[in-house]
Amino acid sequence: MLSAGRILQRCDALARHSELPGGLTRVFLSREYRAAAEQVLGWMRDAGMRAELDAIGNVAGRYEGARPGLPCLMLGSHLDTVRDAGRYDGMLGVITAIECVAALAEQGKRLPFAIEVLGFGDEEGVRFGTSMLGSRGVSGTLDPAVLNTRDAHGVSIAEALRQFGLDGSRLAQVARKKGEVLAYAELHIEQGPVLEAEGLSVGVVSAINGFSRLRATLHGEAGHAGTVPMHLRRDALAAAAECVLAIERIAQSDAALVGTVGRLEVKPGAINVIPGEVQFTIDFRAPRDTLRQEAVRSAVDAVQEIASKRRLTAAIEKIQELGVTACAPRLIEQLERAVAAQGLHVRRLPSGAGHDGQAIQAIADVAMLFVRCKGGVSHSPAESITEADAGVGARTLLSFIERFEPRS
Ligand code: GLV
Ligand code: MN
Ligand code: MN
Repeated sequence: MLSAGRILQRCDALARHSELPGGLTRVFLSREYRAAAEQVLGWMRDAGMRAELDAIGNVAGRYEGARPGLPCLMLGSHLDTVRDAGRYDGMLGVITAIECVAALAEQGKRLPFAIEVLGFGDEEGVRFGTSMLGSRGVSGTLDPAVLNTRDAHGVSIAEALRQFGLDGSRLAQVARKKGEVLAYAELHIEQGPVLEAEGLSVGVVSAINGFSRLRATLHGEAGHAGTVPMHLRRDALAAAAECVLAIERIAQSDAALVGTVGRLEVKPGAINVIPGEVQFTIDFRAPRDTLRQEAVRSAVDAVQEIASKRRLTAAIEKIQELGVTACAPRLIEQLERAVAAQGLHVRRLPSGAGHDGQAIQAIADVAMLFVRCKGGVSHSPAESITEADAGVGARTLLSFIERFEPRS
């Protein structure tokens, strides 16, 4: 039987695998990630699944259908976190999917398809700056050259995989082919305030907004903070401050667009030295690809213009880009039937946050079910859900699974 209490206890248990005592930070291929992965592998096996770590570090479990080797309905979410994270973003989807499989296994129920549950190792992209490594691996869209990307300590993804006991050269074996995966369905907290405002436990996602991520580097000239007159300075941080405000203005130009400078690195970074170099990130999201692409062009122009006005040089590189992912109408309908079967009002809403489905859509149709979170707060230790909503989410997902029609 589905247990919402057990789902929340497991979210609490995973939250203990953290870099920070008293908080939650768990990045891809860290010691804490291994501990969390081991725990999830154990839960999958207890639920009657075959489970192992794949070559890109995902936790992958499989529950066979009516006969072995059938194509699968893929469920899941991610097991990595942002820094100082909440305990539900990602984990709730993995744990709820396992709970659903456990409920089927308990009844000895086999379906006309297999179920695979994926705990993706990297969705947030915190460690290597490039996100969705796990789901890009599974969808066969992860360029092996990306494995040369290095973390802040100079460790490449390929090296980190090796240190973790995995072999990145086996990446091709992780990739699923079209046809092997009938659909991908992910349960996730909403990370926004809409469901709470409307008094709803769950909502069905219509589409996931696209995103563009860039890194800008401004080169000025470091110098003595006490001796260089203001008009002779080429201060990279003062220029970056102007860039941040220009990006904010661009993002404010359309209500559907959002833009964030989330990270700024100042060199040399001393109280008495004029900043000579600044690196910062830019993240744009939008429900229309053209709107986002136009924002990127405007931001690149603005950064170049500010740099040249201040006699600095600017280099801007694209880190990653994924277009809008529309959820499949046939899967939206099936999820909405599952919501209605709980006697609940059906609400369709878009996702402003990024999700692994954006990578998986290369091989399979995608669906998402959102669960209300308190105050719409996410990417924060204040992330919170109720046991009642966890239960509604689990029952809805199980109903969707049990009635899943591969083709309709
Ligand atoms: C992931 O949480 C993202 O939307 O960046
Ligand atoms: Mn997140
Ligand atoms: Mn997430």
